[in-house]
Amino acid sequence: MNILFKHLQAVLLPACILSLAACNQPAHKTSATTIMTDTTTLIILPPAAGFEKTIDGKQSHFYILKNKNGVTAAVTNYGAHLLSLAVPDKAGKLTDVVIGFDNIDGYKKAMSAYYGATVGRYGNRIAKGHFVLDGHGYDLYINNKPNTLHGGKKGFNDVIWDVKQINSQSITFTYLSKDMEEGFPGNLNCKVTYELTDDNAFKISYEATTDKTTIVNLTNHSYFNLNGVGSGTILNHLVELKAANFTPVDSVLIPTGKIQSVAGTPFDFTKPATIGSRIDNNDEQLKRGKGYDHNFVLDKHDINTPIAAVTGDQSGIKMEIFTTEPGLQFYSGNFMSGDHTMLGGKKDERRTGFAMETQHFPDSPNQPQFPSTVLKPGDVYKTVTIYKFLK
Ligand code: GLA
Repeated sequence: MNILFKHLQAVLLPACILSLAACNQPAHKTSATTIMTDTTTLIILPPAAGFEKTIDGKQSHFYILKNKNGVTAAVTNYGAHLLSLAVPDKAGKLTDVVIGFDNIDGYKKAMSAYYGATVGRYGNRIAKGHFVLDGHGYDLYINNKPNTLHGGKKGFNDVIWDVKQINSQSITFTYLSKDMEEGFPGNLNCKVTYELTDDNAFKISYEATTDKTTIVNLTNHSYFNLNGVGSGTILNHLVELKAANFTPVDSVLIPTGKIQSVAGTPFDFTKPATIGSRIDNNDEQLKRGKGYDHNFVLDKHDINTPIAAVTGDQSGIKMEIFTTEPGLQFYSGNFMSGDHTMLGGKKDERRTGFAMETQHFPDSPNQPQFPSTVLKPGDVYKTVTIYKFLK
């Protein structure tokens, strides 16, 4: 048992301690805190009991996915959150790389940060919470003045999803977002599948259909720290993005409409650079985002080639990102403020996690030159994003 684990154990008990060698049961719903010990590799999972709750008349649960290498993900149908993800570091030690909390109230308190959440119906910002579709104007709740962010007042992150199809390495959640819920038109049937594959990839597949023309932009808002949750800032993580362009923003983080080259700017990650090397440069875009909080226009790609890679300088854990989406919001945790205690006992201090939100571009409903986020009846919205872990 290593020192870090002992420390975490002291801080965290009662937590679910999962022995990877001893715990070979299939991926499952767990109904109570489980403690299993093993002499080799131990990781800490959130306590299952923290995710058993009735909300709006529906029940939330805690689920574990595990692959043949012992890589383990904890998820819940509350907001279809990814709660934790333990992957091997360069020494083979399983390391939790996704920031989370040990119960639903923790997520509720930190709601405006969207830790680990499935975000919808429209991920990212819509200017002034207004858009026009088929000649009809729609007004949304302004939850990020003066704009709507990540679905409005009660987004997909704050509802209970139904659970369909579970096996040891995958789980599918569904949610019906009713016509005019949060001001969006059309009954939207959504499906999100999480799959932990044996090549240590966490694969997210989204699907949605509607009965009226609507807009949709689903994403996952996990914050990663590839050196391990609570191990300090992410400023020394090395980032590479296959994006020759990004969408600069105005003072309230709405794209100006321009597609701007990253060349010669702190936004150039076409060659690997650490997050911290230029983050505090005297650059108007960085000032507006208080760091990186921008949509990168991904170069032409398909799902078979990574469009981004991030490496933890201490752990050696490298995360590759694959996606069918045209954009990627790289957010360097600038609004994290140490107000919340993360699983593991540390505070969520500024820039101790980063998000890589694969998506269509922010404010697309108001920016016809951007790829369309319109979904029509009869069409199927389908996107895939993969976070793959190497060491
Ligand atoms: C997104 C936004 C950020 C911030 C976070 C949540 O990444 O772009 O500005 O609001 O969500 O805190």
